[in-house]
This record gives sequence, C-alpha cells and structure tokens, in this order.
Amino acid sequence: VMSRRAFIVGNWKMNGLGPAGAEIDAISAGAPDGPELLICAPATLIHRLSRRGVAIGGQDCHPKSSGAHTGDISAEMLADAGATAVIVGHSERRADHGETDETVAAKAQAARRAGLTAIICVGETEVERDSGAALDVVARQLDGSVPADASAANTVIAYEPVWAIGTGRTPNAAQIGEVHGVIRDWLKARFGAESDTIRILYGGSMKPANAAEILAIADVDGGLIGGASLKASDFLGIAAQA
Ligand code: G3P
Repeated sequence: VMSRRAFIVGNWKMNGLGPAGAEIDAISAGAPDGPELLICAPATLIHRLSRRGVAIGGQDCHPKSSGAHTGDISAEMLADAGATAVIVGHSERRADHGETDETVAAKAQAARRAGLTAIICVGETEVERDSGAALDVVARQLDGSVPADASAANTVIAYEPVWAIGTGRTPNAAQIGEVHGVIRDWLKARFGAESDTIRILYGGSMKPANAAEILAIADVDGGLIGGASLKASDFLGIAAQA
C-alpha cells in the first residue's frame, strides 16, 4: 500500500470578507511540513486569496463551462480566479439546492474538465445512521456522484456524516473506520491499483482536540474542516497533527 500525503482542507462556507487575507497569511506562515493544505473560500475571495502561499479552492461549480446561468460560476471561472480544487456535493448543497447524485457527478466532471481536483462529498443523515443504512447510503452516493470518467488523479472523497456537521458530535473511531473502509474498497473496485493514490477525508466537527484521534484511523487521509477552519490557529492546530 502506498502512503498518501495527508490533505487538510478548510471549508469556509459562506464566511469571509476582505480581512480574511490575514487568516490566509497566518496559515501560510504557520503551515507545517508534511500535509497538503487547501482553503475552500467563497468565490468572491478566490482571486484575492490565491497566490498567497496557500492553495485555494471553490465550494461548488456549475456543470457547464459558460452560458445563460445567472448567478452560477463555472469550474473554468474558479480555475481562472486561481482555484486548484472545488468541493462538489456538500450536504448543504444537496439539502439547500436539491442537488442529486447526478448533478454532483456532472459538477465533478466539470472540475476535471477545468483541471481542478474534485472533492466529492458523501455522508448519511442521522435517520439513515440510526436505521442502519449508513454504509448503503454512502455506497449509493459514490455510485451516483463519482463520474464514470473520473481520474484517480483529480478525485478526493470526503465522508461527512450530516449529523456531525456543525454539531460538535462525531462518530466514534470504529464507525469512521468502517465507512472509510467501505469507501476504500469502492475506490479499489472502480479505479483498481490507481485507487491507492486517492485521499479519503473525514469531515464533521473536527477540531484540534479530536484531530489526532480521527487522523490516526485507518483510511482517513485528512480532514474537511468547517467551523475550525475559520481561525488560522485552529486550522493549523489540526494540520499540525496530520
Ligand atoms: O465541509 C466541512 C463541514 O461540513 C464540516 O463542518 O463545522 O462541522 O467542521 P464543521
């Protein structure tokens, strides 16, 4: 098994104004050797924050490269602004904007077309977890959300149990390991030997205090961090443990 470089990703969601540049500079100055870091910023900040020593990503993109889609932003536009990656299929997009697995796959395809890494999000709701369906839900989301022509090189999977996002609750280590193992097996079936290079991130209430335990779990190759990515000190506190 080849070793994968840890990938610590911040998702700022709908947070960040001009002064956020200071956070990026602080992350750049404090970045530990080892893990790859990425901050997925609001689209309005990407150009301003890129080329400051920390890779910058988007949080969503439209499947098409251009056209009559008022208010939407294409993967090509994100790349043009300086992004190197984009999150697709975050549960907040799936819930708030009715994104289906098919939509998510089209967005991941767009990311590849534009030369961006696609961070494809999956994860069960609390009801699904409680009914014992978590593994089936994640497998079904992978089937539908990872495009047929995805390449291992531009694909990252993020497992974010919906009930752990912004709640301060996290699955236990065995639960995280079980889901990541299923994702790893799924990737192997889809991508073969190349799947060894694909990182699987855990997301949901990660913070400096629980990062070491979570990052030590087999097949957890990094984190997708919401609230704790908004302050450079918290984000770096997590990155230092990767
Ligand atoms: O995409 C990251 C996210 O959904 C997790 O958010 O605030 O629980 O770290 P948070």
